[in-house]
Amino acid sequence: MAKSSSCTSLNSFFLISSILFASYMISSEAEANPPELNGLSYSFYSQTCPNLETIVTNHLTKVFQQTHWQAPALLVIFFHDCFVQGCDGSLLLDGNPGERDEPLNRGISSKAVKTIDELREIVHKECGRIVSCADITVLAARDAVFLSGGPYFNVPLGRRDSLNFSIEEAKNLPLPYNTTDVTLKTFESKNLDVTDVVALSGAHTIGRAHCHTFYNRVSPQDPTMDKTLAKLLNSTCPTTYSRNTFPLDFTTPQLFDNKYYINLINHQGLFTSDQHLFKDNRTKGLVEAFALDQTLFFQKFAHAFVKMSQLGVLTRNQGEIRAKCNVVNDERSVVKSFVDEIVQLPN
Ligand code: HEM
Repeated sequence: MAKSSSCTSLNSFFLISSILFASYMISSEAEANPPELNGLSYSFYSQTCPNLETIVTNHLTKVFQQTHWQAPALLVIFFHDCFVQGCDGSLLLDGNPGERDEPLNRGISSKAVKTIDELREIVHKECGRIVSCADITVLAARDAVFLSGGPYFNVPLGRRDSLNFSIEEAKNLPLPYNTTDVTLKTFESKNLDVTDVVALSGAHTIGRAHCHTFYNRVSPQDPTMDKTLAKLLNSTCPTTYSRNTFPLDFTTPQLFDNKYYINLINHQGLFTSDQHLFKDNRTKGLVEAFALDQTLFFQKFAHAFVKMSQLGVLTRNQGEIRAKCNVVNDERSVVKSFVDEIVQLPN
């Protein structure tokens, strides 16, 4: 695509996002904030870092104008961080091996992980080392949704960063080949109910997947799959090892909307775990409801996101506030990172 036309489409993408946001604010009666748990608060940094959310939103607006794929990449980081050991920034830690080396985290973008540390650096310059990488991860995912045309909602803050990570727990991330029965059980173990599962799966309205994650539906060909989609997948993925990717929602891949559910009704879901939501009696009605009513989807998504964002959090004097998101603090690294950042300051 020519550069100017991609700029034009990006501009219209952001224009559409603003219109959607405005109409959402007008047309929907905003649901009350879900209760904050475990020492988190919706006004945690209001005195100590009042510009935090503006800093994050402004920086990500610029990032997404350059690289729209970073929005889904940041959203999936949030999910994979929170699902493993809680929302504690453990996924961001380098290791040999670390959580990101687990095969189910193979699709996690190292550039998006760096974006979180860039945000951390800007925020720490303005406010000092008081905002955790775990909180920045949650804010980045919230903004990824909103800046892609999805709902805006508040998230409680005050998480602290872990001192460790768990490769073992990362093996329990849900699989794309799972039926709804298995998916529901996996989420139930984190106190997320049927509505949360169907709403959160709607995150697959943006982003892409590698061939091996859905090849089980390409060969042998899933006879229930829409023929147009089947043809496209066949040509994209000659084998399971192909490094190509395909959009999770091939109708509006960059827009956070309810087309994901409409696709499921049209047999155009990508993963078994997606398409099966329209088969299982416990989830089918919710798929239909979200396909019919985007505002309802947005409300339930925001609610489930906030629930997920409070999984296993560390607060108060637990964990630490990392000086760099990819390593735990030691006295020398804390001092060094401040010196590095102060040296870079004059520009
Ligand atoms: C039902 C359970 C889920 C399963 C089995 C699942 C599985 C997957 C898989 C296999 C991929 C493709 C990875 C790759 O090829 O790189 C993917 C992508 C993605 N997932 Fe999920 N996921 C689930 C739930 C969620 C949830 C709860 C969220 C967020 C709230 C989420 C957000 C995303 C996003 C945004 C992408 C695209 C990433 C990108 O483009 O970089 N997923 N998911």
